[in-house]
Amino acid sequence: MVAFEKLSQHTGAEIRGIDLRQPLDRDVAKQIYDIFVEHCVILFRDQDLSQDELVRASANFGNLAAPGRPAEFRPSGMAEMNPQVMLITNIREDGKPIGALPDGEMWFHHDTIHRELPTKATMLYSVQVPTYGGETVFSNLFAAYEALPLELKQALEGRQALNAYSFNSTYKDDANAVAARNHAIHPAIRTHEDSKRKAIYVNRLMTQQLVGLPEDESRDILERVFDHIEQPEFLYEHAWRKGDALMWDNRSSIHARKDFPADQIRLMWRTVIAGETRPF
Ligand SMILES: [Fe+2]
Repeated sequence: MVAFEKLSQHTGAEIRGIDLRQPLDRDVAKQIYDIFVEHCVILFRDQDLSQDELVRASANFGNLAAPGRPAEFRPSGMAEMNPQVMLITNIREDGKPIGALPDGEMWFHHDTIHRELPTKATMLYSVQVPTYGGETVFSNLFAAYEALPLELKQALEGRQALNAYSFNSTYKDDANAVAARNHAIHPAIRTHEDSKRKAIYVNRLMTQQLVGLPEDESRDILERVFDHIEQPEFLYEHAWRKGDALMWDNRSSIHARKDFPADQIRLMWRTVIAGETRPF
């Protein structure tokens, strides 16, 4: 049996005794995947991975997706990387960030919810971390759905939401401008295809509107849902150490990044596991 410990009441599990450089046999990979589905986030501490090893380790849990970032948003430091690994860093050369998502805080979001076929999971591996700050905070949206007040559950049930992303971290552009670029409409409550559990599927950074409701009413409902799903009881806050490999489920969780000192380096490698079905 794969050994693990929960990281908080609802969210996150630390997997013990696994060296991700080694191939996992199918049964072990399946056990880890089941822990991942139930706890939304899994953590492997003290790993020592090359980019190729990170890609192989990620592939234990699904098919890797090509990085989806359009060319104009693709950072210069990616040129020498394994093409399946995204560089997330605040390192700059000639004043320009060499990696994606360089600075500071980032609001709660689901990765790629603005696409028709959002990614299933994201794996992040820490190469260099600041002495403080830059924590990633996760919320379990199965648990948040189960605890959602009935009135809000009814407001979301059967409803679609417009999700858009403009590659900003802490603000929304004008909804129409964003929607014209990168957007997708998905159910506001999603059924997880593995566990068949329901999870809330809207987030503060990217969800623009509940389709078919007047703007004021939509905003009021969404604000209350965002406040609900970001409550401490659903959260796990991950303080990064070098060598952490952490994978989260984009179908059932949101995550946010806390601010970190601009004069310290934060360098992560990211791989992405492709989605298999349109959200339903
Ligand atoms: Fe993200």
